[in-house]
Amino acid sequence: MAKTTEKPMSRKKAAVTAPVQEKASQKTEFRFYDNRQNYLSFINTTNEKSAIAKRAGREFQYLRPMPPALRLYDAGMGDATVLSDCLRDLHHRFPTVPVVVVAKEISMEDVRIGLDKMVDRFCEHPATVLVLTNLNYADCRLMPSNVASANAMNWQEIRLEGTMSYGYKQQLESLHPLFAHGWETQTSKTTGNPLFKRPSVVVIYRQDHHILLDAVIPKPGLQSWYFDFILASQPWRARTSARFKAEKIVAPLARALAPGGRMLVIQSCGRDPAEEVIREFWPDENPFPVDRHAILTEVRNVLGREMRHFKFREESDEKAIFSYRMHTLPSEIGGASIGTSTLFAAWNASVYVNQIEDQRLEAVIRDGSYLTATTKVLQKYGGLHFNDEAFVVSRYHD
Ligand SMILES: C[S@@+](CC[C@H](N)C(=O)[O-])C[C@H]1O[C@@H](n2cnc3c(N)ncnc32)[C@H](O)[C@@H]1O
Repeated sequence: MAKTTEKPMSRKKAAVTAPVQEKASQKTEFRFYDNRQNYLSFINTTNEKSAIAKRAGREFQYLRPMPPALRLYDAGMGDATVLSDCLRDLHHRFPTVPVVVVAKEISMEDVRIGLDKMVDRFCEHPATVLVLTNLNYADCRLMPSNVASANAMNWQEIRLEGTMSYGYKQQLESLHPLFAHGWETQTSKTTGNPLFKRPSVVVIYRQDHHILLDAVIPKPGLQSWYFDFILASQPWRARTSARFKAEKIVAPLARALAPGGRMLVIQSCGRDPAEEVIREFWPDENPFPVDRHAILTEVRNVLGREMRHFKFREESDEKAIFSYRMHTLPSEIGGASIGTSTLFAAWNASVYVNQIEDQRLEAVIRDGSYLTATTKVLQKYGGLHFNDEAFVVSRYHD
């Protein structure tokens, strides 16, 4: 896959000044995680999720499943495009190995869409246990450390009847009210983030495989298992501090790795044409202030003496950065004028990945100059591409 670290343009054209930006973001907490339409449009107009699944596939070659199962954790299932692609790869590599996948998701809408993507996995790989949960990263092994959460736990077990995807789809769709109840949220008074109202775990597997899977189906209470693979794909806001990312996400997940287990972390890193679009309007913007090196430095600080159990793969840009692109037809970009829907999609993907708050967008979309700026960048590069970076944390065998 093409790698690029294009230099952003330095053109000064500040449509919105920095003080106004700050004032706007103080007024309303920016919550890009809830920006459903932008997320769904971005997923469908770029190949990021497929590029991430391919990157994860490179790690799967190091997995050596041990009885009784291969255990995975998805640190933010989103719409499950990445997860379902990863499972396809794993089911192909290990067709007879029981797979337990714990997928964390706070958004009920994502759970609903994500479940749809799982239907065919139960058909192709009957020895699958899918666990959906809204528990925090620190409780990824399904044992809330907080006593109140543990006592309030809403734990459900669903056995799918039959052998066909038609029936599974119907049965999973009938669970929507159950998820509506379990995934109800409230807004945090301090951060504005959505918080679960009740800690929930839903365990789904095929009825006709329950004897085979019995030993690996998670049950409420003490868990003695760890994860062989953890995927943390775009798990945070880019501008969140390295300390927070290390302390609240990477370190707790690392502790949940089994001996020999690996965690792949992926985040956007910019220095690409999409950032160039952004800099046309916000020349001083630094959308990705926390790179992988800063995060790993903090993870080392947080883990302290525990570091002796872990190995970090902190590669050069050449190896760590991979690109993905927006889908376009060659004729769309080469022609005299680019179609409006392509321009909208390119603008949406650029502001989405660079996490520009809605309030800041209002000022620049009013006069339409954003379409001119987007056209210029699309024509310059013959399309639009973006950069993500990855790093790996693994646990030593002993
Ligand atoms: C836990 S994250 C990621 C979910 C899933 N692992 C994925 O990669 O799509 C869920 C939120 O991250 C955001 N997100 C996903 N991909 C993103 C990207 N490339 N740039 C910025 N935000 C992204 C979306 O708003 C989504 O609701």
